[in-house]
Amino acid sequence: MQNFTYDIPTKVFFGEGQIEQLPGLIAKFGKRVLLTYGGGSIKRNGLYDKVKELLSDCELYELSGIDPNPRIESVRQGAALCKEHQIDVVLAVGGGSTIDCSKVIAASAKYDGDAWDLVQDSSLIKDALPLIDILTLSATGTEMNTGAVITNFETKDKSGTGAYVMYPYASICDPTYTFTVPHNQTAAGTADIMSHTFEIYFNHEPGVFVQDRMAEGILEACIHYLPIVLKEPDNYEARANLMWASTLALNGLTRMGRNGAWTCHPIEHMLSAYYDITHAVGLAILTPRWMAYCLNDATVERFAMYANRVWKIAYQDDLYAMAKEAIEKTYQFFVDAEMPMTLPEVAIDTEHFDEMAERVAPRLTKSYVPLDKDAVIAILEDCMTPGVTYH
Ligand code: NZQ
Ligand code: ZN
Repeated sequence: MQNFTYDIPTKVFFGEGQIEQLPGLIAKFGKRVLLTYGGGSIKRNGLYDKVKELLSDCELYELSGIDPNPRIESVRQGAALCKEHQIDVVLAVGGGSTIDCSKVIAASAKYDGDAWDLVQDSSLIKDALPLIDILTLSATGTEMNTGAVITNFETKDKSGTGAYVMYPYASICDPTYTFTVPHNQTAAGTADIMSHTFEIYFNHEPGVFVQDRMAEGILEACIHYLPIVLKEPDNYEARANLMWASTLALNGLTRMGRNGAWTCHPIEHMLSAYYDITHAVGLAILTPRWMAYCLNDATVERFAMYANRVWKIAYQDDLYAMAKEAIEKTYQFFVDAEMPMTLPEVAIDTEHFDEMAERVAPRLTKSYVPLDKDAVIAILEDCMTPGVTYH
């Protein structure tokens, strides 16, 4: 296990009714609040009215219409509002897109140049307005990390940025706010939680027993609770476990002591930058094919451990058989959640494979199994038809 420093300043207020903390939290920073949200789900489920009621003493300014795969244009608008109205605190109410966008708004409010600079070069982020969020979708883990992923559709770039000052000051995580998340976004959110866990778990660092067991626990929670929540969208226990799993999957706990480059996320960010698809739909399509591509003598033991610990497949002499069964179970899990499982189902053809692979390959040289351009194309081609292909 490598050395690490674990330092997360975010306060998490978890559970039903925690929104009552909001006025006190906002009051620490002032009265001028930029309220940010997406396409209107918070108006339909009553959260918007609740926030307005609780903050009736504040001066509220609003930025609405933040899209999934949030655009740099929204960041620019938000930053301009912050500067114009001398905003004291940004309040993001929504899923990962709204919160990510708001993180970069908070940083851009303290930056003189164009917001896109901060996405391309995180070292330029020196300061940020305080950010408080109310999470409404269990997926990204953004509620307890510094990351923010922003898209520039003009240049077909979807890039992550982040800095310590972008940690939310506080995150209100009330599982009841996720009761209204539709079937497809619930499934995708869970695929995102699982992908974050896989990106970290499939790593060569030895001796990270604690982190491995935590990661497996998160995966087990996803596998256990997703089918329940798809049948019973207002099952509190299931929504609560998925919500906490989403936070734990990407707040560093499973990653501490083992650094490593990710694989499916950079490839998926290409797909969403070119085709504006739902982030974790791309991940669900890629993940089993990536696993199958990665299966080799150097990785088979870890895949067998995944098979045994997560899917309860008994150890046997043939570790490859165990690994393949686990990969196929992973694929089938997403099928059972009714996720699209091929690229043509999300209107992606082979036209840009070459270009996307060329652009992403330099970021995959230090991945669990390093991939070059041809390997990325091979994985994308495997995603064109149902099922899993071994190479
Ligand atoms: O826009 P509204 O109307 O709110 O609707 C949203 C949106 O259409 C809807 N939704 C959210 N909460 C809801 C709800 N509908 C009904 N009831 C609710 N309670 O769901 C749709 C998707 O929302 P979005 O915020 O886009 O989803 P998600 O949380 O999955 O965020 C995805 C974004 O996060 C980035 C992704 O790349 C993508 O841009 N990521 C951020 C990460 C991070 N900051 O650490 C890591 C991730 O790997 C990921 O890349
Ligand atoms: Zn993700």
